[in-house]
Amino acid sequence: MVRILGIESSCDETAAAVVEDGTRILSSVVESQVALHAPFHGVVPEVASRSHLDAIVPVLDEALRGAGMKSDDVDAIAVTTRPGLIGSLLVGLSAGKALSFVHGKPLLAVHHIEAHIHACAMEHPELAYPFASLVVSGGHTSLYRSVSPTEHRFLGGTQDDAAGEAFDKVATILGLSYPGGPSIEKAARGGDAKRVPLPRPRLPDAPYEFSFSGLKTAVLYKVQPPSPRGTPASAGARAGSLDPQFVADLAASFQEAVVDVLVEKTLGAARELDALAIAVGGGVACNGRLRERLMAAAAAEGRAAFFPSKALCLDNAAMIAGLGYHLLREGKTAPLEVDAFPR
Ligand code: KG4
Ligand code: ZN
Repeated sequence: MVRILGIESSCDETAAAVVEDGTRILSSVVESQVALHAPFHGVVPEVASRSHLDAIVPVLDEALRGAGMKSDDVDAIAVTTRPGLIGSLLVGLSAGKALSFVHGKPLLAVHHIEAHIHACAMEHPELAYPFASLVVSGGHTSLYRSVSPTEHRFLGGTQDDAAGEAFDKVATILGLSYPGGPSIEKAARGGDAKRVPLPRPRLPDAPYEFSFSGLKTAVLYKVQPPSPRGTPASAGARAGSLDPQFVADLAASFQEAVVDVLVEKTLGAARELDALAIAVGGGVACNGRLRERLMAAAAAEGRAAFFPSKALCLDNAAMIAGLGYHLLREGKTAPLEVDAFPR
């Protein structure tokens, strides 16, 4: 039995988990900072790193207690070293290094985006390599060809806003709460996705790249058309006075536009790679409409799309420990001098 302690602090969740033999989650603790960042409608890096400092020790304690273990009982320590907010990454990495040094346990440096893909593989043993992967989160929208748990070839990603970031910004424009993904999905349930025409940024010359900032601006202009002298003033001020049905229709139309693009490009990649399976990960993978549409579109051409459970879509440390298990098996341990990288 191999038990790995995973540590995650790349963005706005402080998380720790103990995972046995790569898939059995003995404990998984996630301390979210959402309430701290909500007044700013996005993550404030300085606030995030200070909050990780407060949370890291209690979160580690709780995860070990939940697994019925002490820190020297674990076989290795896996920690996110990239990509993410540098000040935030360093908090988790320092904690991981300290535990590794004190107890003489191997340290494993985990790539956060690869761990989001791995979350899907952890829960779906039937997902056979190689497959096409889509990671859609607050910071990333990326397509990969996944060859093994530790080998992923990057095909393309976003040129501007990530999918989750677009959900968060559009929610602010519509006067909906942060984080925007869940609140847009909820509002969209009462809306008509065909009511407001919006562009689908397809980038035909760059089939694996994404661009959502123009779509976000298109939503802004539906709320407040540009004045002849320039861009609109505060859309936030308008948002409070918007008709709730218009907000629901716009939320549904926006969600459908994002889902259209994600489904088309992901299936395009799967076809090109001749991949029968597609793995999806990251916070936006919680979206019910994306799940429904991608699974149906994949099935229609004899492929299968897999999604993690919602707890494993969002940032968590179980996926870090799970991927750490494969790094350990492959002998890919990290030296104590290992650094953190924003990209
Ligand atoms: O993976 P994650 O927890 O953190 C990052 O690594 O960024 O993803 C957070 C993102 C946020 O932008 C949030 O709005 C989005 O995931 N999200 C959703 C949904 N739930 C969370 N987007 C669309 N629909 C959802 N249901
Ligand atoms: Zn993430």
